Amino acid sequence: MSDSWTMPSGFPDLPPGQVHVWRLRTDRDPRSGLALLSAEERRRADAFRTDLLRARYVAAHAALRLLLGRTLDVPADRLRFRQNAWGKPALAEGDLRFNLSHSGPWALVALARGIEVGVDVEAVSHAPPLEVAGIAYSAAERAALSGLSGPALAAAFYAVWTRKEALSKGIGRGFSFDFTGFTVSADPAERTSRPALPKDLAGAGWTLHDLPALEGAAAALAVPAAGFGIATWRFEPSLWGL
Ligand SMILES: CC(C)(COP(=O)(O)OP(=O)(O)OC[C@H]1O[C@@H](n2cnc3c(N)ncnc32)[C@H](O)[C@@H]1OP(=O)(O)O)[C@@H](O)C(=O)NCCC(=O)NCCS
Repeated sequence: MSDSWTMPSGFPDLPPGQVHVWRLRTDRDPRSGLALLSAEERRRADAFRTDLLRARYVAAHAALRLLLGRTLDVPADRLRFRQNAWGKPALAEGDLRFNLSHSGPWALVALARGIEVGVDVEAVSHAPPLEVAGIAYSAAERAALSGLSGPALAAAFYAVWTRKEALSKGIGRGFSFDFTGFTVSADPAERTSRPALPKDLAGAGWTLHDLPALEGAAAALAVPAAGFGIATWRFEPSLWGL
């Protein structure tokens, strides 16, 4: 994987064996994106309490539709979705899989053919909410954090958080997965790592990848096996008709 987010010169093909992760800023005028959303998505957008949160939701979901539509060569507003038992969205038809994450001004969309993927971005705070580690981190993860302070503690805290959430989103269980029952690397410098998983998933080949730097945020990607090529792209709405 490259160390940076690449601006594509044309819309990149997504062959089997590749995972594409797109990054976009969501703090922009959402009006053009609204036309792509379904009635249900507009209802969700309208339910946000502030214009900023509404705009971010619209930008992220319009970009998601546009990326899926361009990849499949289908109009973005025609796509239909379904959800698994834990709310993970998927396309109603076909083998193109995706996962979306948004936090602060950033959104990430991961795409792959025929394999589930999970992605997570979290806006970072210099004073991380350490109480989260008490309820959601494994004993080994808490031990890894215990000797740290300052920026090293914040970096390890968010590395663990984004890796755990990317994994739980990859397997599709979200927060209903027991977060204390598996362990990820707490070393922020470890670009690719294998989690220690509970018995029912122990044989699976889930691999965790850090993503190139995002200003003010940490991010991770979960892929169900090693050996996938990972490309990281910048999404510029105006280039793709948004
Ligand atoms: C998925 C989840 C971990 C997201 O946490 P988050 O940090 O707030 O949000 P992120 O921005 O990283 O991800 C949100 C996106 O993940 C996707 N998502 C939702 N549920 C998901 C799941 N179970 N697995 C993977 N991805 C999921 C959606 O695209 C969602 O975007 P949207 O809310 O704009 O539609 C959390 O919302 C969750 O656990 N949801 C499931 C709740 C549940 O168990 N419901 C039971 C239904 S019976």
